[in-house]
Amino acid sequence: MQVSVIGTGYLGAVHAAGLAELGFDVVGIDHDAAKVAALGAGRAPFYEPGLEPLLRKGTESGRLRFTTDVAAAAGADVHFLCVGTPQQPDGLRADLSHLDAAVDALAGVLADGAAGRPPRRPTLVVGKSTVPVGTAARLATRLQEVAGPGVELAWNPEFLREGHAVDDTLRPDRIVLGVAGPTGEQVLRRVYAEAVAAGTPVVVSDLATAELVKAGANAFLATKISFINAMAELCAATGANVTTLAEALGHDVRIGRRFLDAGLGFGGGCLPKDVRALRARAEELGVDALSFLDDVDRVNRDRRTRVVELASGLLEHRLEGRRVAALGASFKPHSDDVRDSPALEVAQRLRERGALVRVYDPVAATTAARVAPDLEYADSAVTACRDADVVLHLTEWPEFRAADPHAYAEVVGRRLVVDARNCLPRDRWREAGWHYVSLGAA
Ligand code: UDX
Repeated sequence: MQVSVIGTGYLGAVHAAGLAELGFDVVGIDHDAAKVAALGAGRAPFYEPGLEPLLRKGTESGRLRFTTDVAAAAGADVHFLCVGTPQQPDGLRADLSHLDAAVDALAGVLADGAAGRPPRRPTLVVGKSTVPVGTAARLATRLQEVAGPGVELAWNPEFLREGHAVDDTLRPDRIVLGVAGPTGEQVLRRVYAEAVAAGTPVVVSDLATAELVKAGANAFLATKISFINAMAELCAATGANVTTLAEALGHDVRIGRRFLDAGLGFGGGCLPKDVRALRARAEELGVDALSFLDDVDRVNRDRRTRVVELASGLLEHRLEGRRVAALGASFKPHSDDVRDSPALEVAQRLRERGALVRVYDPVAATTAARVAPDLEYADSAVTACRDADVVLHLTEWPEFRAADPHAYAEVVGRRLVVDARNCLPRDRWREAGWHYVSLGAA
């Protein structure tokens, strides 16, 4: 089976490499020539453990290639739409212009160059991007108008997490197939035959439900995080310990321990924008019941303010010229993604208030420096801490947790640390002479 993957960002690059690994002939298509060149040479344009070996294996075997030419999709039986759906300038709704453009370009190719002419053979187009509910039905109509009735659209949301993307792609925890015609389920079951044989649950639905599964999953995860962060506020006000609280809550299998880590909150290219887009779409549809997502977003954003205020308070609210060491820049560990990164926002807000902020991140310094060039970047945590008046633990990279707090203590100006991720070994830090403050635990 030949497959095209349109859009080779995070989702598309990993999906294309994963499908080649499964034995399909894959062409990845993107208008970004630099990205296409890198992927074609077996290089990932972003940090993702395990991706480069897969890219190299695929490209060397000839099963995986990348191009900027959408016409290369013509020979494929299945086309995956993996383009981004970023946030619009209104800060709420999803921007579907890349998706619309990709569908129009693909439809033109499938119509064999002439609008209205049927394609040469039945063809399946599969949307994977996260979209407002109702988008798939609209795109299905558009595709059939331009490319003819032989083109069917299915929606197959992707749940991969950055930093675990390869594993999540090859071994998903569920497969959701939103279908609207006779071939969608049959063809996608062939695409995912290996995972299905390994026992991965398959949920078959209509297009709208499949769209909502993805939006719902991300909104639920975000709600879980904001819930525990709201409880962390209460813990801080009462001297209770949110980590112990989360542990005890998590033993209830109906609740579960995962996504109950209180701290600086969620960021990245998905959760924040998807929460807002779901809220906005519900409002458009006159459904007010999801208005609590505004609070989920607000609680999450307040965490960043809380850390800025905490750091400022420790420095007697005189930030001008004070040295701040920021440990972490990426929105989460094992990623160099700084999109809507809580860590980077805290660092930038302290910089704006006059602090001299020196950042260390094991992999994200380059991406961070692109969007926040006025921060200083150090090549080690100890260098970042040199002469610091306060140390902020902002992204929970394992190396920070494993570090010897004595090593940092020797170089800092003042032994003040804010553990915004609530996971440093506090007793060790205190024994090493630090004044240790965390978010929601005494
Ligand atoms: C998320 C979804 O998990 C994934 O299914 C979807 O496909 C894309 O969006 P990702 O953005 O890679 O994946 O990150 P994830 O691991 O979900 O973490 C999101 C954010 O929540 C991070 O900023 C993380 O630091 C934060 N988080 C996570 C918490 O603050 N507390 C937690 O307990 C868990």
